[in-house]
Amino acid sequence: MGRVAKPALSAAGGTGEARPFPPDDGKSHRRAIPPCSGARSPRMMHGLPSLHMTTPSRGSLLDIEHLEDKQILDLLKLARRMDPRKPRSLLRGKRIILLFYEASTRTRSSFEVAAQSLGALTTLVQSSGSSIEKGESLLDTAYTLRAVGADAIVIRHPSAGAPHLMARHIEIPVINAGDGMHEHPSQALLDGFTILKHKKSFKGLRIAIIGDVYHSRVTRSNCHLLARFGAKITLCGPPELVPDLASTLAPGLAITRHVEGALRGADVVMLLRVQQERLAGRKIQLQEYIARYQMTAARLKLAKQDAIVMHPGPIIRGLELTSEVVDCPQSAIVDEVRNGVPMRMAILARAFGKN
Ligand code: NCD
Repeated sequence: MGRVAKPALSAAGGTGEARPFPPDDGKSHRRAIPPCSGARSPRMMHGLPSLHMTTPSRGSLLDIEHLEDKQILDLLKLARRMDPRKPRSLLRGKRIILLFYEASTRTRSSFEVAAQSLGALTTLVQSSGSSIEKGESLLDTAYTLRAVGADAIVIRHPSAGAPHLMARHIEIPVINAGDGMHEHPSQALLDGFTILKHKKSFKGLRIAIIGDVYHSRVTRSNCHLLARFGAKITLCGPPELVPDLASTLAPGLAITRHVEGALRGADVVMLLRVQQERLAGRKIQLQEYIARYQMTAARLKLAKQDAIVMHPGPIIRGLELTSEVVDCPQSAIVDEVRNGVPMRMAILARAFGKN
């Protein structure tokens, strides 16, 4: 890779005349290519060293679970210094590819705005309309994007672990923008950032997470982040959406089936969408869910007076929450979306060692 044939013009001594293609006499002009012997790995095809990297590429953000406390706190601190209204050229000339195998509005657009606010160039690749649709493998797609000139890849993928696999095979930073039902680290960071704008610290905060915990990568990342800094988390929903096993996600998690119990004394009320596209045969009676768990203004009164309402989006008005709750003064839902930009600016800056 990187070997570029000399242009014919300079080889011809700069006469100003483009030299015609060499005659195809079947001899002298071609580089000798050794015959293929045995299987070649895609890394070889792309001229990359054949070793498998045992650690993820530097600057990657793959999950919250394996970040150190200091790394999380540094990212939160860095985000406070980022302001998309004051564009910077920290990442001027860097090419960031947004590789989305799943639908997204806020994550994708805020990564794009964040990258551009730092002076980077962005390209969006979606599974529909790309070679992925034709069956190209994840790693071949990664090598291809690298060859095109990507300096970092932001990836959302329906399979847990896809960004981790990619980060072990290419040497550029890989940012996880949501992998299956596993993690969504940038969302947890922006949620943490939002909470700290409203509350003094995570320590002792009572956080109620209500809804489809089972399918929520956001919840998994949030539990890893918030529990570690001393928040008291209660997960709430029916057993189909909040299995008992969910209490093992992080130390000190509690589970309740009663929304009133989760809300009493809560500082933060985090609501989750019922991810109907992932239910695959599970039966959820939506009317019953609404009756038992929908966040209404009356229910919200059980939480502390200064409690904030959060939701990673997309929100479905009339299902997991009423319009009245979405638009009430306690709602921090739009604030979360807004905070996604400085948080993702910080994540991208860190990816390139600019922190
Ligand atoms: C969520 C996701 O895709 O994980 N949204 C987000 O990125 N902010 C949650 C969802 O789809 O319900």
